[in-house]
Order: sequence, then structure tokens, then C-alpha cells
Amino acid sequence: MSASTSAIESVLVENRVFPPSEATVKAARISGIEGYNALCAEAEKDFEGFWSRLAKTNVVWNKPFTRTLDESNAPFYKWFDDGELNASANCLDKHIGTPTENKVAVIFEADDGKVTKTTYKELLARVSQFANALKADGIRKGDRVLVYMPMTLEGVIAMQACARIGATHSVVFGGFSAKALQERIIDAGAVAVITSNYQMRGGKELPLKSIVDEGIAMGGCESIKTVYVYQRTQTACNMVAGRDKTFDEALAGQSTDCAPVPVGAEHPLFILYTSGSTGKPKGVQHSTGGYLLWAKLTMDWTFDLKPEDVFWCTADIGWITGHTYVAYGPLAAGATQIIFEGVPTFPNAGRFWQMIERHKCTIFYTAPTAIRSLIKAAEADAAVHPDRSDLSSLRILGSVGEPINPEAWMWYYKNVGHEKCPIVDTFWQTETGGHMMSPMPGATPLVPGSCTLPLPGIMAAIVDESGNEMPNGSGGILVVKRPWPSMIRTIWNDPDRFKKSYFPDELKGYYLAGDGAVRSADRGYFRITGRIDDVLNVSGHRMGTMEIESALVAKSDLVAEAAVVGRPDDLTGEAICAFVVLKRSRPEGDEAKAIAKELRDWVAKEIGPIAKPKDIRFGENLPKTRSGKIMRRLLRSLAKGESITQDTSTLENPAILDQLGQAY
Ligand code: WTA
Repeated sequence: MSASTSAIESVLVENRVFPPSEATVKAARISGIEGYNALCAEAEKDFEGFWSRLAKTNVVWNKPFTRTLDESNAPFYKWFDDGELNASANCLDKHIGTPTENKVAVIFEADDGKVTKTTYKELLARVSQFANALKADGIRKGDRVLVYMPMTLEGVIAMQACARIGATHSVVFGGFSAKALQERIIDAGAVAVITSNYQMRGGKELPLKSIVDEGIAMGGCESIKTVYVYQRTQTACNMVAGRDKTFDEALAGQSTDCAPVPVGAEHPLFILYTSGSTGKPKGVQHSTGGYLLWAKLTMDWTFDLKPEDVFWCTADIGWITGHTYVAYGPLAAGATQIIFEGVPTFPNAGRFWQMIERHKCTIFYTAPTAIRSLIKAAEADAAVHPDRSDLSSLRILGSVGEPINPEAWMWYYKNVGHEKCPIVDTFWQTETGGHMMSPMPGATPLVPGSCTLPLPGIMAAIVDESGNEMPNGSGGILVVKRPWPSMIRTIWNDPDRFKKSYFPDELKGYYLAGDGAVRSADRGYFRITGRIDDVLNVSGHRMGTMEIESALVAKSDLVAEAAVVGRPDDLTGEAICAFVVLKRSRPEGDEAKAIAKELRDWVAKEIGPIAKPKDIRFGENLPKTRSGKIMRRLLRSLAKGESITQDTSTLENPAILDQLGQAY
């Protein structure tokens, strides 16, 4: 297992428990552990009846479903599949004619601090108008549209407009490279790209459109007919005649009315690429009905959403968290949400706290990496400490994307929540569509560093390598024993890989999450110990070790061989450590530094800056077993700086261990 053992140990001895206050229990939608238990019992007793009831009461159907779950072609499960709905109508139209129509849907704060507010009614008009623009260019139900946008309201509008006409969107995070973009355009067979001339981050203007041009120019992207360009800044960008149009050009003359196109419940709402344990990213395909149900319901359950809440999820729309808890969930639930374009450290590291005060945020949802870096900043400079802001509006805090260490949890609880806000530590994945395990704020006693219990209807368990369930108090492989509505439907264009990756034969048909977990002996609480495959989690971003290795060896004039492992990092959770054998002699000193920089820049171009290795180590060779397999466990120990206790007798040249100790 790749997780840090020290983190696991500190979590194992954790015995602080924070039950919800009486007032919280009383006011909560799901009240007390009895409330939680009652829902779980309902799901146990009549699994399909439970989901059918929830789908009927939380989703607006154009055509009601009569079948809840179809398992005839497992693991290609179908949910509510003879029902029809539209995701955008469920997020927008459904509020029209209710008091929510004039409620602020989105408080957008730009990088430079400029704030704009958009009501549900206004948002519906903007989404509809953009949907008409897409239709005018011949984009239809079932077409794929790539979205490569900054973290702006326009990004959400682009996604919602696709959903409105039944086009399947595939959002690519604005930090990915031209090559990553090209690969996704080809794999998805996208007919259009929605992008922006530039994006603003931390006061800097960074290009997006030129990266799209570069990606398309790499070839194989003939499917792209139109590129829509949102003019985020005044700076001009290259426009290709006959292919590219600005938002203004596309929207000119388009009506702000657009009837939502009903689609079948299983219609792919989106494809989102994520890293797996091989070199090629997987296009995770999600449904419309089941996905939307869970996006809406987890807003109510996990965040205990109330009409007066001001919800803020800091994730970018390029990740699953930004899909479910920015673009869909808050709107489906009729919430007012904050969307923030910038970075937490600009103009200073007090930005998040100042924004909570400014917008009277009540529910704040962010990643442990952000918390850890803000702790560090607050300790170094009292001026950016959360104490400097009035955080009294907050009532619930959330954490997502990676294990939160109990120390960071306690700091968040005390300094941000002032010991009155429950922290919902939400465990889930791109593939799960929404939360799988999380406390319910008015029901579940909290334990720092634990995502506590599965949400009702989610049949999570810990098993051994043959799929046998493990007793509480022990660790093992995290699985989900029954399907759930928002689960991944397949890997786009690769159903075999879907089956092999998530439903391996040995595991009795259970969904394999790819994480290890332990359950506490007393409460049966889950604690995630980290990925058990070759996936790294750097600052909450998923990266495949093979993906980075492939990128490194693609620099074929220089690199002969590369192996990538993770090592624990105080700030980013895990850090990328690359072991590289060059085609030339092993460099040292300044020369090694220069080559390391060249390789980092190369990886940034191949995948994106987030994939740059933190450590690069050069060896004349890599440690291998007699059969030629790279000894990854040994590399992990070297990366951590541990003394080597493994048997190294099979190593051809033990001296390389010394060479590989030096990081550049
Ligand atoms: C990790 C992000 C511990 C886990 C929503 C999972 C977590 C991977 C938590 C999915 C958490 C996510 N505690 N680990 N609360 N949340 N993870 O697909 O390893 O970007 O498999 O989805 O992040 O990352 P992904």
C-alpha cells in the first residue's frame, strides 16, 4: 500500500469523538443517529424500494420510470432506465414559479475581487441562450462537447447548456496540456470545444485558447467543427476563420428560451477523464438520472442544506467535485452558492476567510491540501489567520479529495469552525459520482481523520483479496457490495477496461474502489488509508504513476527508463518522485539540476504542470528483481529516505542505491 504509515498510525490511535450538539441534531434534516439508522434500515429491507422512493421525490421526470434497477447485464447496471428527464431542467426550470426563481443562484467572485450575483431566473436565461447557440451550430443530443474553461460562471453555463440539449460534456481541467487535450478530444470524438481566451489566476493572465489551438494542430481532431471562445480578458487571441467564434458572436440573436431536451435516465450526461493504473486516462462515463439524484440528495444529506444557506465548494469544474458540488448539486438543490475564480493565496492567504466573511458563507467545502497550506501561512503571518475574519456565519465544514490528517482536522475544527461546526469528511471518487462515506452533520459523531460511515444505500465493506468481509478492527480492500445510482456506467470506448478495473473476478462482483481502508473496532468507522494501486494523490489531484512514466520515456532522446512512485509530503499529501535512467551517462551537480528542470518542463507539456515530479533521481540503472521487475517497494523506501531493510541480494549493482538517494 502506498499510503503513509505514519498517517495511518496517528489515525489508528485517534480516540477523540465529537458528537453533534443537541441544537444541531434538532435542526437537522436527518436528525440523530436514529435518523441515519432508519434510512439504512430502509435500504437494507427494500433496496429498490428505497432508491425508487428517493428518485421519485428528488428528481423531476418528464416520463416516470417503472424499473428501478436492471442488473441483467452486471456490472453494466442501469437505473431508472425507462424514465426520461433533463438535468438542466432539474437544476433551473424546476425553480421557476417558486420563491427560488429570484433567489441568487451564484455569487461569483473574480480573481481580482469583483463580485457578480446571478439569480436562478437569470441563470436559466443565460444557459438557454447558450444552448440555442450550440443548437444553431448543429450540436445535438448525443454529441460530445469538450469544455476547457476557467473557473467562472461561464464554465457552469457551458456545462448546463450541453446538458440542456442532451450533448455529453467532457470538461478538461485548465491546467492540462495541449497534448492531454488532444488525446481527450480524439477519445471522446468531440464536435466542439468551449474555451476562453485566457484565464485569471493569482493576478496572472494565463492562456487557454492557444493551448486548444496547439492541441487541435497535433492532429486527429477533425471531428471538431466549432470552437467557442469566452473573452475573459481584453487580450486578443488567435481566431481561426470558419471554426472559432466568440461567445458574443455565438449568442447574438439567440433567444433566451430553449426547451430542455428530455433524455433517457441512462443517457451519458458527461465523460470525465481521470487517472488509472495504466498510462492512458480513463473516460469515466456518468448517467443523467442516477447521477442527478445523488448530486441533489447528498447536498441535503451530507451538507444538511437549508434554503438560507450560502454554500461554497472551492473545487474547480475540471474535477468531479466541481461537477457534482458546483455545476449540478447546488443548483438541483436550489442553493445559493459561491463560485471563486482565483487561488486561495491571492492577494494573500487570508482570501478564503475574507470571502467567507464577505458573502456570509454557511457551508464551506475544501480540500485538506488547501487547509494544510493555509495553516502554514497563518502560522507564518498572523494577518492571514482565520481569526482576522468574522467566520460566525459558518455552520458546516467539509473536506474532500484525500485523507485529512487529524492535526489538520483539529485546526480546521477549532480555528475555522470555532468548535461549533461539524466537519464532513467526504470520501468518494470520480467514479462514484457523489459522496460514498461521510458523516451526516446532525447525526454522526465525528472522529478526526475518519470519513465515518457509508451514506444510506451505499453498501461499503472491507474485504480480503478473495472478497471475504473483514471484521471490524481490521484493514483491507474497500469495496461496495451493491450498485448505486450515481456510479460510473462504463469507461468511454472501453467496456472491457471498465469491467477489469472495477469488477475483478476475485471480488465476487463487488465494486473495487482502489483504496485501502480500516474499520474501527468500536464504531465500525471507516478510515481511508490510501490507494492500493498505482494511483497517486497529489494535493487531492489524481495522477497515475504509469502516466508520468510514459511521459518521461516519451522524451526518447534523453530518457532510457523511468519509474515513478509517491512519497508522503506534509503539504501536498503525496509528492511525485521519479527515478530516471538516461541514455547518456548519469549526471551530477549543476548538470543534473539542469536536466531535472528540462524533464519537469517536459512532463508539464506532456500532461500538465500538476504532474511535474517534485524529486528527480538519476541512476545508472533501476533496482530490479531477477525476473526484471522494477522493485517499486524499494523505490518507495528510497523516496521516503528510509534505510533499506529489503533483501537487495538480487540487485546487479547495489551501488545504484546510493546514486538513487540523491534528489534533484
Ligand atoms: C481519495 C475526488 C481519504 C481516495 C472526490 C480516492 C479520499 C481518490 C477522500 C479519488 C477522503 C477522496 N478521505 N481519501 N475524504 N476523498 N479520497 O477521483 O484515494 O479525484 O480513491 O475524486 O481520492 O479521487 P478523485
